Amino acid sequence: MNKETWKAVDEYYQELIIKPDPRFEKILEVSNKEGLPTIQIPPSLGAFLELLVRGMGAKRVLEIGTLGGYSTAWLASGLPEDGNLISLEIDPKHADVAQRNISMFKFVDKVSIKVGDALESLREMVETNMDPFDLIFIDAEKNQYRAYLEWSIKLSRPGTLIIADNVVRRGEIINKNSTDASVLGIREFNQSLSEEPRLKATVLQTVGAKRYDGFTMMVVDPES
Ligand code: SAH
Ligand code: DHB
Ligand code: MG
Repeated sequence: MNKETWKAVDEYYQELIIKPDPRFEKILEVSNKEGLPTIQIPPSLGAFLELLVRGMGAKRVLEIGTLGGYSTAWLASGLPEDGNLISLEIDPKHADVAQRNISMFKFVDKVSIKVGDALESLREMVETNMDPFDLIFIDAEKNQYRAYLEWSIKLSRPGTLIIADNVVRRGEIINKNSTDASVLGIREFNQSLSEEPRLKATVLQTVGAKRYDGFTMMVVDPES
């Protein structure tokens, strides 16, 4: 078993089962051309997020970390007619590319990209008593994950699903000698999640065409 196999199986299922709309590939092309980093979620995770939104009947989705709008587009694909999505992005160039990418789709009017530090946007959303979200996808600055989670809980209701990307990092998460800021950030996030009675959680590791990584799924506990 090796990377080539993971990649080939990813491609096999992508072509046979997932069959992404060609516009998703276009988003990646435009993002590359604009010089954005190629750190988007893989198509399999994108399709998974769409299914979660659909399966839950989520109408209100929050994303933290837009980049070129790739994950945004997958999430928005699952929204019903009266659904909407807010995506937070600090880099105006990224937000601009994302807006152009999202404009290829009919769901463009359901999506608003908010430019600014996510922590500021989250604070403002809490202070203005914004209605709770049904699903929240955390994927911005890794050493802020703990704070993103705290704000996300404030913007949740019992049953809200929260997903945090990139919590395995090729297994570096368990390397005790790691000095990587992202690894240390995810560990802080993990520590606070482990002490958080309001959340039920699991972690899924992923392999495929992209690197070995994983994500955390959390549900705000109805019993809390
Ligand atoms: N979700 C995207 C990838 C996001 S990459 C996808 O899978 O397609 C992380 C993004 O978070 C980058 O665009 C980066 O500019 C943004 N970011 C970094 N720090 C941030 C902050 N403090 N507030 C908001 N966004 C931030
Ligand atoms: C990387 C991947 C991501 O999904 C992300 O959000 C940030 C960084 C990476 O591969 O470095
Ligand atoms: Mg990510």
